[in-house]
Amino acid sequence: MKILAIETSCDETAAAVVEDGRYILSSAVASQIERHKIYGGVVPEIASRCHIEAISYVTSKALNDSGCTLKSIDAIAVTYAPGLIGSLLVGVNFAKGLALANNLPLISVHHLRAHVAANYITYQDLVPPFLCLIVSGGHSHIVEVKGYTDLKVIGQTRDDAAGEALDKVARVMGMPYPGGANLDKQAEKGNEKAYKLPRPFLKDSEYDFSFSGLKTAVINLVHNSKQKGEIVDEKDMSASFRAAVVDCLMNNFIKAAKNLGYNKLVLAGGVAANTLLRRRLNEECKRKNWKAYIPDISLCGDNAAMVGAQAYYEYECGNVATMDLNAYATLSIDNLI
Ligand code: KG4
Ligand code: ZN
Repeated sequence: MKILAIETSCDETAAAVVEDGRYILSSAVASQIERHKIYGGVVPEIASRCHIEAISYVTSKALNDSGCTLKSIDAIAVTYAPGLIGSLLVGVNFAKGLALANNLPLISVHHLRAHVAANYITYQDLVPPFLCLIVSGGHSHIVEVKGYTDLKVIGQTRDDAAGEALDKVARVMGMPYPGGANLDKQAEKGNEKAYKLPRPFLKDSEYDFSFSGLKTAVINLVHNSKQKGEIVDEKDMSASFRAAVVDCLMNNFIKAAKNLGYNKLVLAGGVAANTLLRRRLNEECKRKNWKAYIPDISLCGDNAAMVGAQAYYEYECGNVATMDLNAYATLSIDNLI
């Protein structure tokens, strides 16, 4: 089954053709980074307009690159939640038009489920059940993936997402947007023990995270140093902060796997590109004789191939959308509309 998938939930306009949920026939991504860079973050109104400008071209490119025409496509898939509402609506309406005009089924896909599914492409032998850590710019979840469309959140952030905290700290240190990847690069050259930072663990919850206190501790440290005319070592601070974030993520993830009896541990989301997080999961799983699944770097950030992968399994279990499909800025991964 060949699915033409569309993704516009944030600042990447993407389209892809994916076969049987596992094989990428084509994947096109138009990034808006240059348009948002001068503002230091994504401006939602600009993002929506950029999606409108790019979506037609990106979809044609994905079709052409795959060697398919719309006649050989079996279904249209689209991310409908969660994300920036204006951005999501561009993709949803474009996908509806394509499905209606070509008399094809429309499959609505949850963005975080799609991030999980990036792993089905990287690892063609990966099947649920497994435990997944989804870490992106907007979410930090520990999810039990019991089946392709049967997911249960067991832990999540109470405040900032890991990616959001990394981006904000990077910005305060003067790194260009998008900060997370730049901070990761600097951290590779720094000493993670140079600055002593807290590892906030919540007493009343085993698996939830909190990153805003940690983020504020670093921001205050940077500001205070600046006021005193002291220099903050960018590489050392990046390394120290990255280590604190990864410690918090890994601590809960490993604890959950032990308590719930999972030995297949999967990473997903933009922050899954983080060098230390990838290294730590590999090391930890090796030590315990567990199996680590980490998506190919090209599939960590937002793309439409992962949407096409998840769409295949949504379709298989009968999740087909109707023409009154709406977009939702927030929506739980385990309780779809
Ligand atoms: O999944 P994603 O592309 O978009 C959302 O769904 O939010 O994730 C974007 C996030 C951003 O916060 C970005 O800074 C972060 O992923 N990110 C990284 C790295 N590459 C991207 N964070 C840490 N290390 C990286 N190498
Ligand atoms: Zn994402």
